[in-house]
Amino acid sequence: MKILGIETSCDETAAAVIEDGRHIVSNVVATQVEMHARYGGIVPEIASRQHMRTLIPVVESALEDAGMELPQLDGVAVTHGPGLAGALLVGVNTAKGLALSHDLPFIGVNHLEGHVYAAWLEDGLDPETRPGFPLMCLITSGGHTDLILMEGHGHYTLIGRTRDDAAGEAFDKAARVLGLGFPGGPEIQRVAERAAGTEPALPRPRVRSSLDFSFSGLKTATMRRAELKGMYPPPEDAELDPADVAEVALAFQEAIVDSMVRRTLEAVAKHRVNGILLGGGVAANSHLRAEMARRSPVEVIVPRPALCTDNGAMIGAAAYFTLRNGDAYSWDLDVIPSLRLG
Ligand code: KG4
Ligand code: ZN
Repeated sequence: MKILGIETSCDETAAAVIEDGRHIVSNVVATQVEMHARYGGIVPEIASRQHMRTLIPVVESALEDAGMELPQLDGVAVTHGPGLAGALLVGVNTAKGLALSHDLPFIGVNHLEGHVYAAWLEDGLDPETRPGFPLMCLITSGGHTDLILMEGHGHYTLIGRTRDDAAGEAFDKAARVLGLGFPGGPEIQRVAERAAGTEPALPRPRVRSSLDFSFSGLKTATMRRAELKGMYPPPEDAELDPADVAEVALAFQEAIVDSMVRRTLEAVAKHRVNGILLGGGVAANSHLRAEMARRSPVEVIVPRPALCTDNGAMIGAAAYFTLRNGDAYSWDLDVIPSLRLG
């Protein structure tokens, strides 16, 4: 079964052809990041307009790379939430039009479920059989930091979430304080690699007696640290010392990764799962990947970085399991900007 997966929930215009939920036939991602970078964050109107310009060419190249035409597909799937309303609308309406005009099944996908199913796309990886359900999923991105217990295909329970900022948002804000570019996650990771680790640790944020996360205290602590070192607000007459930037970036990355790993391991101990599944843009972080693998008592499944950040392949994968589950879909499907999973 071959499904076209379309993703336009944020600043990536993406389409992919996926076979049987596991095999990537083609995968095209057009990022808008340069267009938003000068504003230091995503501008919703620019995102929608850019999706309108690029989605059809992106779908065409995904089909061309797959050597296929629309009538040969078995379905068209699209993210219908969560995300930016205008951006989601472009994807949903385009996908409906494509499916309707070729009489194909139309499947709405929860973006967060897409991040989960990215783990099924690695060659030879099938988390259902190894390590097997139940799985503890940490979906950590620019908009979400959720701990989701997955007991089977389509069976999710939300057991922890961020009370304030998402981890990706915290990375982006910390990067801005340190004068680094957008998106902040890859920038923090890049400069932290050069740090010697001389900076005293930043506090680990915790929400007592719950599996929720909180990152706004860490954001404030990072800003305070930068202030104390004379780095923030940025001095008018001098450049920031790259060595100082690297040290604070490393201290921030260690604190945020440590708090995500700790919470996830608490959830693992409480719910006796067979494995941990990581997904979402922040799961591309090399330190998070390494620390989770090093400290976890159970197997850790994490897709390659390019499948952690937004893409259409994960949408095509999730749609296959939705169809296989026999879940209903309808032409009435609308965008749900605040859609949740579990
Ligand atoms: O999943 P995603 O592509 O889009 C959303 O659904 O939000 O996640 C984007 C987020 C951004 O905040 C970005 O800074 C972060 O993922 N990110 C990273 C890394 N790569 C992307 N954060 C930390 N380390 C990375 N290597
Ligand atoms: Zn995402």
